[in-house]
Amino acid sequence: MSILVTGGAGYIGSHTCIELLNAGHEIVVLDNFLNSKPESLKRISEITGKNFKFYDVDLLDYSAIESVFLENGIVAVIHFAGLKAVGESVSMPLRYYNNNIVGTLNLCRVMEKYGVYNLVFSSSATVYGFQEQVPLSEDLPLQATNPYGRTKLMIEEILQDLYASNQNWSIALLRYFNPVGAHCSGQIGEDPNGIPNNLVPYITQVAVGTLPELKVFGGDYQTHDGTGVRDYIHVVDLAEGHLKALVNVMGNSGIKAYNLGTGIGYSVLDMIRAFEQVIGRPIPYRIVNRRPGDVSISFADASKANEELNWNANKGLDEMCRDSWRWQVNYPNGFEKEYEKISAVNQL
Ligand code: NAD
Ligand code: UFG
Repeated sequence: MSILVTGGAGYIGSHTCIELLNAGHEIVVLDNFLNSKPESLKRISEITGKNFKFYDVDLLDYSAIESVFLENGIVAVIHFAGLKAVGESVSMPLRYYNNNIVGTLNLCRVMEKYGVYNLVFSSSATVYGFQEQVPLSEDLPLQATNPYGRTKLMIEEILQDLYASNQNWSIALLRYFNPVGAHCSGQIGEDPNGIPNNLVPYITQVAVGTLPELKVFGGDYQTHDGTGVRDYIHVVDLAEGHLKALVNVMGNSGIKAYNLGTGIGYSVLDMIRAFEQVIGRPIPYRIVNRRPGDVSISFADASKANEELNWNANKGLDEMCRDSWRWQVNYPNGFEKEYEKISAVNQL
């Protein structure tokens, strides 16, 4: 009776694997390291003191996924695997549609063949696109503004069709807001490739001296200080949301969307100030033009996840900053340095 975690070597997947193992679940991890390093799997084992099976499998390879189901008693899938960089999706749409959509279709086809109908899917608040009102609730009309967002929206629709065709399916669509932070051990965290696109890894890389200054995208938004507002959520809170969603899908059938956010919005300047408090020195920044495609303000109405999943985000901004910073200081180059040391990771 195992939970299959696709993309389990990645940022959110690795934190979720820790929570699953700590809660006593048996897990099987599938990843092809398209955007992660084997070292993260080793650290999951070190942190939890538990072993798990790992498959170096690409979701584009249908028969390799099938082998995972043949060799293990999979009862549910938490599906993180996908590409996630908005800018890259604009320049490489075919890569994104192929990887995210075909990968998910292959996974669902194998699940259906083996009668595994419990699925927790990583969606995103990006499916709300531009909205007039905040907080964002699950029943708003959805729209996508870039190819990455369209893959999430299309997959949500595909999964709706799947449930309509067969009511054995039990699916949670988890719409994450802005995941930040790292495990409190400081041993795993977000490890972006190259120059980060997202605010928090950019701030910590400026603070650690890898980058010279932060560019704040836009100082003229209709927000309390003119900079963009987002709902930052600690990755461990997010990971716990997956365990709650798993319990919910395993006892029901249906398809439901849930926002996973704190319900609190912080501006870019709020985030800079919070990091300055934790780090104890100023973070150099400069306000520049808006980034095309950015919404001014986004935060969740997280009441549905609270009521139906019994889930709440517990960790505040200070803990998010402290944990992000600990990971950055411990491993300024992310998992990179350790990469060559791993030899037989699939024996984990
Ligand atoms: P990540 O890139 O760290 O993790 C994704 C993992 O999937 C990586 O380990 C990657 O190697 C793996 N992967 C990608 N394509 C694969 C394939 N074809 N076969 C096998 N493995 C594959 O990303 P993350 O931040 O952990 O995000 C996890 C999920 O959550 C993604 O689907 C992402 O779109 C979604 N999401 C992330 C955010 C965010 O800000 N981090 C926000 C909303 C939604
Ligand atoms: N920002 C800066 N400078 C930077 C990076 C970001 O000022 O160098 C600002 C942005 O303009 C925005 C805020 O910081 O106001 C947050 O930006 P992020 O790039 O960290 O996050 P986004 O809200 O733009 O997008 C993230 C993920 C998307 C996901 C979305 C909703 O990157 O994939 O949250 O979940 F779709």
